[in-house]
Amino acid sequence: MRRKIIAGNWKMNKTPSETIKLINELKPLVATEDADVVFCVPAISLVIAVEAAKGSNIEIGAENMYFEESGAFTGEIAPNMLTDIGVKYVIIGHSERREYFGETDETVNKKVLKAFEHGITPIVCCGESLTQREQGITIDWIRQQIKVAFLNVTAEQAKKAVIAYEPIWAIGTGKVATSAQAQEVCAAIRVCIGEIYDEATAQAIRIQYGGSVTADSAAELFAQPDIDGGLVGGASLKPDFGKIVNYK
Ligand code: G3P
Repeated sequence: MRRKIIAGNWKMNKTPSETIKLINELKPLVATEDADVVFCVPAISLVIAVEAAKGSNIEIGAENMYFEESGAFTGEIAPNMLTDIGVKYVIIGHSERREYFGETDETVNKKVLKAFEHGITPIVCCGESLTQREQGITIDWIRQQIKVAFLNVTAEQAKKAVIAYEPIWAIGTGKVATSAQAQEVCAAIRVCIGEIYDEATAQAIRIQYGGSVTADSAAELFAQPDIDGGLVGGASLKPDFGKIVNYK
């Protein structure tokens, strides 16, 4: 049985002082023994978020990081900066980073490798556009994203990875994928991981769904056999996130 993992992606929301307030407000609401709970917050708030989450079941994640160790990369965050302050997860290759900041499957792969090198769990994002879905190429597209993202990643590492399937047309649109649509793609991702590695790796890796998840849709989505939790945007900034975490 895979343990569920429910993560909030705060995106570019909340100042550092608002972050402390929101974590304190959400702490009792997201308390659970049944799932891993992760808050991925803006880089500037990582230090205080780790501090604010101490003593709770909340782990803190970054929303991005760079694939070099250090050096002349103005504005970037290195993996050892994250581990130094106690960050355990990092979102890699979110569609917003691919669309607005030039992230590619190749940079995603470099970052995934680097995260593992530093013992940070990557939450590797993939997802199709509406046009791709309408063209019927969703599964092919996702398989390609996964194959490149996991190049040179060992089976032992892959077993610890988290993949977030986020159809781009469902992100921030209020248009959540049906549980059947989400399950179909998450199952296909698991098959793909089985082909790259083996059945044990496919069964171990955790696959989240993301895209307009709310307290109303969480239970049905997370009950699907290949969906091991969610990556939640808008609703992770509200008390509703407690209901999503405690969806049962
Ligand atoms: O990473 C989470 C995400 O992109 C979904 O955002 O606001 O549709 O839940 P949202």
